[in-house]
Parts: sequence; structure tokens; C-alpha cells
Amino acid sequence: MNCLGIESTAHTLGIGIANQEDIIANEKDVYKPEEGKGIIPREAAEHHKEVKKEVLKKALKEDEMEKEDIDIIAVANGPGLPPCLLQGVGLARELSKELEIKIVPVNHCIAHIEVAKKETNAEDPLVQYVSGGNTQILSHADGRYRIYGETLDIGIGNAFDKLARSMGLEMPGGPKIMKLAEKSNKYIELPYTVKGMDLSFSGLVTQASKKHEEHEKEHIANSFQETALSMLVEVTERALAHTKKEELLLTGGVALNKRLREMDGKMAEEHEASFHVPQNEYCGDNGAMIAYTGRLYREKAEKEIDIKPRWRTNQYKTNK
Ligand code: ATP
Ligand code: FE2
Repeated sequence: MNCLGIESTAHTLGIGIANQEDIIANEKDVYKPEEGKGIIPREAAEHHKEVKKEVLKKALKEDEMEKEDIDIIAVANGPGLPPCLLQGVGLARELSKELEIKIVPVNHCIAHIEVAKKETNAEDPLVQYVSGGNTQILSHADGRYRIYGETLDIGIGNAFDKLARSMGLEMPGGPKIMKLAEKSNKYIELPYTVKGMDLSFSGLVTQASKKHEEHEKEHIANSFQETALSMLVEVTERALAHTKKEELLLTGGVALNKRLREMDGKMAEEHEASFHVPQNEYCGDNGAMIAYTGRLYREKAEKEIDIKPRWRTNQYKTNK
């Protein structure tokens, strides 16, 4: 059973292949907006259209496969930017017709979680899913992932990107803010917004962006990072204490942040929980996570599928 997975929900056009045992290919090409700009959906979609055949070729070549060796196609059909989603779903439809095989609709957020579970062997973790568009604390119960807390406005990765843009730094801004923060140990007071179990990052970004005249970039980066991550870890800690889960799993693009790994690791240890994070390759958006999740949920395969731009993580039935 070879499942080909297509990711195109935002900036990344990724194609991966998973067989019965493992992930056997993972190729991608990432859209980069012009300097000083955020992602422009139409442009990102144009990028995906241009590169998709080449990425497909590479993914098949990696394991010396022919298209005909593919048994099923998986595509992330939401949540995401509609023009981008249409590119991935378009390719899935094309292949499905040509090869006369079915398509498994995959929720992008669930894929971030499932691939991280697979790669770390975590069984029933509390999940901290942090990326550009999403920030959610979840765990699995009765056939669905349940959300304990989440962002009320922008995703934490987006907050990093916005602050970086205000400093004239290119996308993705997250790693650049992290590097700047490593040079500072000064803390400037910034708004810390936790509402119950939920989070809000937009006020924090606005305030941090206003500090440029008074403070050095590295001090702003450090203060922003400490504030945003502390908010996130506070809510996660409460969920961990409440659920008494024995594993904490970090996933999504922001899982690449070293300071977050350090904070999570310490917090988990205090609660006698093990801490897990997948290899870097599977943190940010990638096609392999869609291929793997598609294989896992192959019973959901259909002849025709549509895009679901606002699909929520807790709407995906896991039947487990
Ligand atoms: P989603 O649809 O899951 O929200 P996404 O489209 O934002 O995903 P990902 O690849 O999962 O894509 O995450 C990208 C985000 O991760 C970007 O906002 C980027 O700045 C952020 N990021 C990457 N590395 C770091 C880092 N070291 N520190 C902080 N943020 C990071
Ligand atoms: Fe993502």
C-alpha cells in the first residue's frame, strides 16, 4: 500500500509517499513572499502551480517509483488558503482520474499531530500544536482530538513573522527572531494575554513593534519570545496538570524553536511527563505527514473531494 500525500495549504507545496511501514519520500518547494511582505494567497497558489509537477517527479524518483505504483492519494484539503488548497486538490483530482484511484481528505492539523506521534512513538499525549496559523493544546478522546485551549486571534508563528516584518526581516520570521533573542537577556515589559485557557497574540505583537525607537532589536525579540512562549507554556501546563497525561508532544512549524523546547522540557519534567518532538523535517509543513495520515485514515477515501478552508481540528473523526 503506497499512499502519495499532497500538502499545499499555505506556503509549502510538499509531496510525500508513505508505504505500509514507513515514510519513503518527502519533497517540497516553499514559496517566499517579497521582502517585507506577508504571504499573498494568489502568489503562493501561482508558485504551487509552477512547482507541483517537479516536486511530484522528485518524490517518485526518491524511491524509484512510477505513478502506477501509487495505490491511494491523500491531500490536505483544509484548513488553509483557498487558492492554495485548490492547487493541491487539483493535482489530487488529476492523479485520481489518471490512475483510477481514490482520494483521502486529510485535515492539515491532524497530519501535524499524527506524524509527530509516529516519529516519537508517543501514544496518548497532550499535544501542543504551534504553527503559523494555529496554536492549540489538545488531546484525543472518543474518536476526536479535543481542544483545551487555543489562540483567539493569530497563530503564534504568525506573531513571530509579524514582529520580524516590523524589523524588516524576511519570511519566515520565526527562526530570525529566535536567533536575535539568543543575543539578549534583557526583558522589556510587554502585554501577557491569557484568557482562561485561551491565548491572544496580536496585542503583544503591536506593542513589541512599537519599541523599535527605544530598544535594540535583540532585546525586543527576547522579550517578545519570552512573553509569547510563557503564555503558551502556562496554558499547556494547566492542561497537563488537569489531564494527568504522561506525555507532552510538541508539533508544527514553531516546534523548531529551541527556547520553546527547553521550556516545555522543564515543565513536562516537573509533572513527571515525557517530552517529545519530531525530527526537524516533520515539524513544519511537509507532504510526508499528509501521506502518512492518509494511509492511517485510508477508509475515508472518496472519489471526489472538496476544499474545507475553515476545517477545525476537532471536526475530524478519528474513529479510534
Ligand atoms: P499551519 O497551517 O499548521 O498553521 P503553517 O502554514 O503556518 O501551518 P508551518 O510550516 O507548520 O506552516 O509553520 C510555519 C511557522 O513556523 C512560521 O510562522 C514560522 O515563522 C514558524 N517558525 C519556524 N521556525 C521557528 C522558530 N525557530 N521559532 C519560532 N517560529 C518558527
Ligand atoms: Fe502547518
